[in-house]
Amino acid sequence: MKRKRFVKVAEIGQIPPGQIKTVNLQDQNVVLINLGGSYFAFDARCPHQGGPLAEGTLCEEAIQCPWHHHRYDVRTGQNVYPKNVYPADMPWLLEQVGSLQVYRIKIKGADILLEEPPGPGCPSPDGEAAQDAGKTE
Ligand code: FES
Repeated sequence: MKRKRFVKVAEIGQIPPGQIKTVNLQDQNVVLINLGGSYFAFDARCPHQGGPLAEGTLCEEAIQCPWHHHRYDVRTGQNVYPKNVYPADMPWLLEQVGSLQVYRIKIKGADILLEEPPGPGCPSPDGEAAQDAGKTE
């Protein structure tokens, strides 16, 4: 199995607790968040209609998009609103609610590193993305 490659995108001192910073990873804007000393990273574009999540509001462990107020758990990428209020007998509504792409993070000394996404033709991440968030080497 090919070893995952992590690249430095920021330093710990650049993101105080509760703050957001946008970084670039392979020409993609990625949002970094410091939640009480644990760091999380996710795609800067809202999966709903591409809203700017770096301009969103942090509500505990969720980021709220400024355009239509969808909320995503920054640890898992799962939609926590409006998915939680859609009736189960209306599956077409649930189909319109996507998940946020999250990135694996490593903290090495004072550096914040993100795992590069797979290249073309590689399998996509399988939801384990945030499990290593905030771990140090
Ligand atoms: S674009 Fe983010 S909620 Fe619609």
